[in-house]
Amino acid sequence: MITIHTKEELKSITRTWQNERASVCLVPTMGYYHAGHEDLMRYGRTLADRLIVSLFVNPTQFSPSEDLDSYPRDHKRDTAIAEALGVDALFIPEPSDMYANDHATWVEVPEMGKLLCGAARPIHFRGVCTVCLKLFLLTKANYAVFGEKDWQQQAILRRMVRDLDVDISLHTRPTVRESDGLALSSRNVYLGSVERQEAPHIFKGLSLASSLVTQGETNAACLRDSVLQYWAKTIPHGRLDYLSVVDPESLAPLTEVTSPAIMACAIRLGTARLIDNILLPAPKRT
Ligand code: PAF
Repeated sequence: MITIHTKEELKSITRTWQNERASVCLVPTMGYYHAGHEDLMRYGRTLADRLIVSLFVNPTQFSPSEDLDSYPRDHKRDTAIAEALGVDALFIPEPSDMYANDHATWVEVPEMGKLLCGAARPIHFRGVCTVCLKLFLLTKANYAVFGEKDWQQQAILRRMVRDLDVDISLHTRPTVRESDGLALSSRNVYLGSVERQEAPHIFKGLSLASSLVTQGETNAACLRDSVLQYWAKTIPHGRLDYLSVVDPESLAPLTEVTSPAIMACAIRLGTARLIDNILLPAPKRT
C-alpha cells in the first residue's frame, strides 16, 4: 500500500492506473476505523482492480460549534488496518491542500440537505457533497462505497451524482452493529458508561417501529409516538434531535407507510450525537 499526502501525488497515481486500464474504487472516510469501515473496504476490494481510501476529517462539513478538533484520530492504527485489508493507496491530505485559501465553489442539494440532520447541521451536506465530488474527480473512481448508517448522506450523494452526470457508481453497505444493536460509529468513543448502556435502545426503538408496521400500523405519527414512548423509558439521558419517517430516495416526510420507508433519527447522549435508521417494510396488503 502506498500512502499519499498531496493531490499532485494522487493525480500521478490515478494517471498510472488509467494507463493500466485498471478500474478504481474509492472508500471515502474520516478515519478512526471500526468494523463498519473495514466492511466498506473489504467490499470495495471486490468491486475494482484498485482500491483507494481517503482519510480526511473534512473541515467544511463541521460548523464552528462542532467536534472538528476533537474528532478521534489515529492515523497509525488506520494505516495498519487499511494495509491489512489490501488497500492499494491511502490518501491523507492536508486541509490546506484540499481547500485553497480562496476556495469559493460549493456543491449542494439544498432541499434534501435541509431535512433530517440538515436542520441541526445546516452546512454539513454542502461540505460532504463538495469534498466527495472533489474526491470523485481526483481519484477518477468508477465506484465509491458508503454506509447505510448515513442514509441521508448516501441519498444526497446519489442525487448529486445523478443531477451532475458524475460517471461513478455508488454502492451502499448495511450498517455494522455491536452485538447489542448499537450502530458502529467513530463517535461512540464519546459515550460514558451510562450513555453506552442506553445507546443500544436507539436501534431497539427503531426495530419496534418496524415490527409495528408488520403488525399493520402504517400511520407515521403513531409509529413515532410508540418509539418515543419506548425511548422515554429506556434512554432517559437522551435528547432527541429528530425522529422522522421519510421516503428512502427523496427523504420527503411521509404521513403513511405505503411502501418501504426510512425511519431515521438523531439523539444526543452526553457529548455524542448519534444517528441511526431502519428500513420499514412495506405493509402487508389486506
Ligand atoms: O461519512 C463520512 O465519513 C464523511 O461524511 C465522508 C463521506 C468521508 C465525507 O467527508
